[in-house]
Amino acid sequence: MNDDQWVRAWRAGSQEPGTVLLDGFHALKHALRFGGDVRQVLTADRAVLLALAAELAEDVGPALDRLAVELPEAVLRELVPRLHPTGVIALAARPTAAANLAALARRPRTAPVVLLENPRNLGNVGAVIRLAAGFGATGVVTTGALDPWHPTVVRGSAGLHFATAVERLELPELPAGPLYVLDPEGADIRTTAFPDDALLAFGTERHGVSDELRARADHLVAVPMQPGVSSFNLATSVAMGLFHWMSGRPPGPPR
Ligand SMILES: C[S@@+](CC[C@H](N)C(=O)[O-])C[C@H]1O[C@@H](n2cnc3c(N)ncnc32)[C@H](O)[C@@H]1O
Repeated sequence: MNDDQWVRAWRAGSQEPGTVLLDGFHALKHALRFGGDVRQVLTADRAVLLALAAELAEDVGPALDRLAVELPEAVLRELVPRLHPTGVIALAARPTAAANLAALARRPRTAPVVLLENPRNLGNVGAVIRLAAGFGATGVVTTGALDPWHPTVVRGSAGLHFATAVERLELPELPAGPLYVLDPEGADIRTTAFPDDALLAFGTERHGVSDELRARADHLVAVPMQPGVSSFNLATSVAMGLFHWMSGRPPGPPR
């Protein structure tokens, strides 16, 4: 295909429902590594891309060699709002809701699900998904209007959406499991351990946990703070919650 045909194919592919934009090398690397269905890869410099893979991620080199198409940088800049410094963009298929829901419902659950109630900040959600992938959480569920697969969120997670189950749900439809709501008003986190099948819930950035979610909590848990400090950042709170869960597990290789 010539350059124009590749551009047309990209524009058509990016309009297909369920398509995810992967912005930059690390998002693409993680999508390939964790089994994402990557459909198109455009790069401003194939040689540089393959050298980056050889240096940082040999496992994804063959897939990149097969998929990557070189186009002038000026053309790539017309296809995305802000070209990543690594000069590569890709399109992948978002896992279906059915696949995500099946992963979230699988029993026995061997690691918690993180619930973000009505998060507002795309960067926070990306950071949380990256944490969930790193800790081996079963998944991240969000409520509210924000799409957890928004390109900025995928950029923030470095593409680690493909390493965990990420889905938006309505509050009444939460996955099963004991509900631990993290809230500055809760009981000291050091007095409780999080079981592997826990649902760890966090409130929205500005207003915290809703009355509805608080009413459903089996446990309300706080990370103690110094007097005068009102709260921690959302993603930081998730990191502490997941670390608390991991600290209660025996040492050894990750699951
Ligand atoms: C930025 S905070 C929300 C601040 C909100 N004004 C409040 O008072 O809850 C976002 C979320 O992070 C979690 N969080 C923040 N600080 C916490 C703490 N000390 N203990 C437990 N969870 C905390 C809670 O889930 C909270 O809803």
